[in-house]
Amino acid sequence: MTTPSAGETYDFVVVANRLPVDSVTQPDGSTGWRMSPGGLVAALEPLMKASDGAWIGWPGAPDVEVEPFEHEGIRMVPIALNEQEIEFYYEGFSNDTLWPLYHDVIAQPTYHREWWETYVDVNRRFADAAARVSDHGATVWVHDYQLQLVPGMLRESRPDLTIGFFNHIPFPAYGIFSQLPWRQQIISGLLGADVIGFQRVADAGNFTRAVRRLFGYETKGSRVWVPVGDSSDATTGDRSHVRGAPVRRVIARAFPISIDATSYVELAKDPSVQARAKQIREELGNPKTIMLGVDRLDYTKGIGHRLKAFGELLAEDKVSVEDVTLVQVASPSRERVASYMQLRDEIELTVGRINGDYGSIGHTAISYLHQGYPREEMVALYLAADVMLVTALRDGMNLVAKEYVATRADLGGVLILSEFAGASDDLRQALLINPHDIEGVKDAIMQAIGMPESEKRRRMRALRKRVLENDVVKWSRVFLEELAGATTAHPVSHEH
Ligand code: G6P
Repeated sequence: MTTPSAGETYDFVVVANRLPVDSVTQPDGSTGWRMSPGGLVAALEPLMKASDGAWIGWPGAPDVEVEPFEHEGIRMVPIALNEQEIEFYYEGFSNDTLWPLYHDVIAQPTYHREWWETYVDVNRRFADAAARVSDHGATVWVHDYQLQLVPGMLRESRPDLTIGFFNHIPFPAYGIFSQLPWRQQIISGLLGADVIGFQRVADAGNFTRAVRRLFGYETKGSRVWVPVGDSSDATTGDRSHVRGAPVRRVIARAFPISIDATSYVELAKDPSVQARAKQIREELGNPKTIMLGVDRLDYTKGIGHRLKAFGELLAEDKVSVEDVTLVQVASPSRERVASYMQLRDEIELTVGRINGDYGSIGHTAISYLHQGYPREEMVALYLAADVMLVTALRDGMNLVAKEYVATRADLGGVLILSEFAGASDDLRQALLINPHDIEGVKDAIMQAIGMPESEKRRRMRALRKRVLENDVVKWSRVFLEELAGATTAHPVSHEH
């Protein structure tokens, strides 16, 4: 392991809430780092390894004050957060204010001024670190809702930089976004970027509408014209910028994220993974149909809705536990946030009831696993699953849907996919459902269970084409090409 020297600067800098590594304690008591699985990591790892870049992020635990280091070819620049910052910035403002607000208030967002103040402070710390490690004229790519003020802060301190921002979660309609007491500061922070990426066309549209409503700036399609030196507008809401004054052009458009598809294809071919898939089927008692759900334990995922649908099918004798079983992996997430604690209680109560009411000694209705698993085990589960259930009530993209499809090189399996997940824009050959319509979910499950092999293969072939052609390498290339082409440091005149 090499240590990047102090004061080293880079021409490509990724800024994300989390570093792509977890701290691990070895058997001998020493501590080290291990690459952590997850959507964003999977998305950027190949690119970071190929480029001379650095990744700025939080190591995921309190008060980890470590110098920059290199791990598996990626230079890491850790940002330390103390207990209170984790509570106010991460659990509070990011995950108890912005997360529910941006997911259509499925849970009630909480607004606390202290949380906002800490969000500003922590965003400033990330922006300062990015300013410190970026070469002159470097490209900085900021990620996600935890860091929406970073682009604006960086543009002020380092106007030489090319700044991209990608929002991995939905961007809500203005009627919802406008609840946020700090709505202008957030929009103004984002507008510091040259390119602002969203998952869906609808998200980008919601953003440009918020820009028009809050600032009155001109927008056309994916272009937004931001008056230069107009930062006072951010706090006063003054819309009186002068027509014909110098403007910066900002691009706001959809770049639907994807997965490292080939790594799933490769794992699916691995004989030990295939053997594990077979073993999983056997351990479940070789049922006719294995259904699978894989989610972070989050209220946006619609886990309760899919349990309700399955429970009703069992109650109505449409399916039996001898023939159909559901494996639900619910990985622990944000466990100190009250809405997540409440969700866990609700889900576990429901699972217990369904298992108690419909299970038999030899057959459990739902195998519920409140654990995270390595990618090999996930791929084995995907291979074992006849029906994949993605019933999100709102989801930026949902990479699980794409992982399932990439894995099924055998063209087996049926994907049931919520139309409220970004993935449904692309994966039209899935069985698309409205998860609020429980009868519709039940019908889709029955259709999936009874689907003729030929239809399964036809659908899966079409789905795989989409995912394999649009993988994460293409996603990052398209985003970075747009960023490279965007007019950056210099103000442009009113060009339209
Ligand atoms: C979503 C967000 C990511 C986040 C991940 C896990 O995918 O878009 O920014 O990292 O959830 O959540 P966590 O709070 O554990 O980082």
